[in-house]
Amino acid sequence: MEPLIGRALGQSRRAANVSVTRRGFLTVGVGAVAAVALTSCTSPPRYVSPTGAPVQQTELARAGTGRVTSVDLVAAPSQIDLAGTLASTWSFGPVPATTIRLTAGDTLRANVRNRLPSDTSVHWHGLALRNDMDGVPGATQAPIGAGADFRYEFVTERPGTYWFHPHVGAQLDRGLFGALIIDDPVEPLAYDEEWVVILDDWMDGVTGTPDDVLEELRGGMGGMMGGGASHMMMGARSDLLGGDAGDVSYPYFLINGRPAADPAAFSGAPGQRVRIRFINAGSDTAFRVALGGHRLTITHTDGFPISPVDGDAVLIGMGERYDVLVTLGDGVFPLVGSAEGKDDRAFAIVRTGTGEAPLASATIPELDGVVITAEALTAAERVTLPARGVDRELTATLSGSMMAYDWAINGRRFDPADPLAGALGVRQGERVKLRIQNTTQMWHPFHLHGHTYQHTGGGPRKDTSIVLPGQSLSVEFDADNPGLWAAHCHNIYHAEAGMMTLLGYQTA
Ligand code: C2O
Ligand code: CU
Repeated sequence: MEPLIGRALGQSRRAANVSVTRRGFLTVGVGAVAAVALTSCTSPPRYVSPTGAPVQQTELARAGTGRVTSVDLVAAPSQIDLAGTLASTWSFGPVPATTIRLTAGDTLRANVRNRLPSDTSVHWHGLALRNDMDGVPGATQAPIGAGADFRYEFVTERPGTYWFHPHVGAQLDRGLFGALIIDDPVEPLAYDEEWVVILDDWMDGVTGTPDDVLEELRGGMGGMMGGGASHMMMGARSDLLGGDAGDVSYPYFLINGRPAADPAAFSGAPGQRVRIRFINAGSDTAFRVALGGHRLTITHTDGFPISPVDGDAVLIGMGERYDVLVTLGDGVFPLVGSAEGKDDRAFAIVRTGTGEAPLASATIPELDGVVITAEALTAAERVTLPARGVDRELTATLSGSMMAYDWAINGRRFDPADPLAGALGVRQGERVKLRIQNTTQMWHPFHLHGHTYQHTGGGPRKDTSIVLPGQSLSVEFDADNPGLWAAHCHNIYHAEAGMMTLLGYQTA
């Protein structure tokens, strides 16, 4: 297990306090995380601490309902049943975890008990929450040690489809994830049924563990030439993803924890309108999702509404979510997540009438119909960022290669021992424009914590966006949630190899 950055943060704090004392500042502790180098002549930026006053003030300003939803999350070794094959994994009980559901404005209190033989944490993906509850060891908290407990407690702000997973090592590629659905107290959409559909690529306990995968990938092409490669995937190609589709070969693709040979089943009645909330919990796989015999009306991405768009399929990168509406036909239909560029698929059944279930290998014309991607989308008016001038422009240049496995941001591989090195700085209240520039030959699902930016030019509000090879994506957001926020590729192997940085709020 990597020590991650908890230790480094501790060191920074101690060092900061020494410097602070020596200089007689009174702002001890809060806001002092980055004050390590105060003794050098050029004073480096100082950042708001995850427990600092600005974070607390921002949380107090969240108009909560005062209602509390309490959940217990016990992370422990377990087994997943893959159509009769039992595989050892780590999970919060079932895979995926039981969906957590509450209404916007309510407080989530999650009592996490770590019964794993490793540090862990829980990150609430997509939420603009108080920074010290964001679950990134070293940036926002110390890791939850083996056998230890930790209570997350925060006010939720916005309705939408979110999810949770650890932010330690490659644990994301185990069974430690679940959906977090925040209901809108005044839901504007009308529908009869709602399904949560979690897509995942699965290898844990079957071909090894995610740590084995990471080790092999880190060895780069050398390991593969040596003949020891068992996880590395070569030749995964996708036009939609601009070329190389992924690094890792998976024996299973799952919908709600079930493989095609023992598919998840959804039922409804013909004519019913269903809201499907798709979540890609994969680590190295984008899914092209379709429901055979149906059109999809895409209504949300990453929890935020868009001007609805119809299509036959939708492309979902790791970490992304899409909500769609479908009007159910009469019969039995295949719900598929085609593993983009990997020649395999996640598969489930939708049943509204009698008939034979389709085969997992069934041809699904919708997969080759109109495939919606984020570029085709426009934010709904009510969530469009109000027009204003940009106060700060930042660039995140993504670099690295599969060969060297040296994925990085702005030329720097994230260093858990020095987490603030290379951090992107903003100040509270600014309108920030971030240009994500992909100089690599591979696509990356870029994710920013704690904010939901808008693709420039009126695009969708999102927190995770596919950036194609050789291209750049510009997004804007308001710096209204102070703290230290991870920004990284949501390919867990790229992130662990170093394609991660922090966005920090500088103190005035
Ligand atoms: Cu799903 Cu750093 O996040
Ligand atoms: Cu990546």
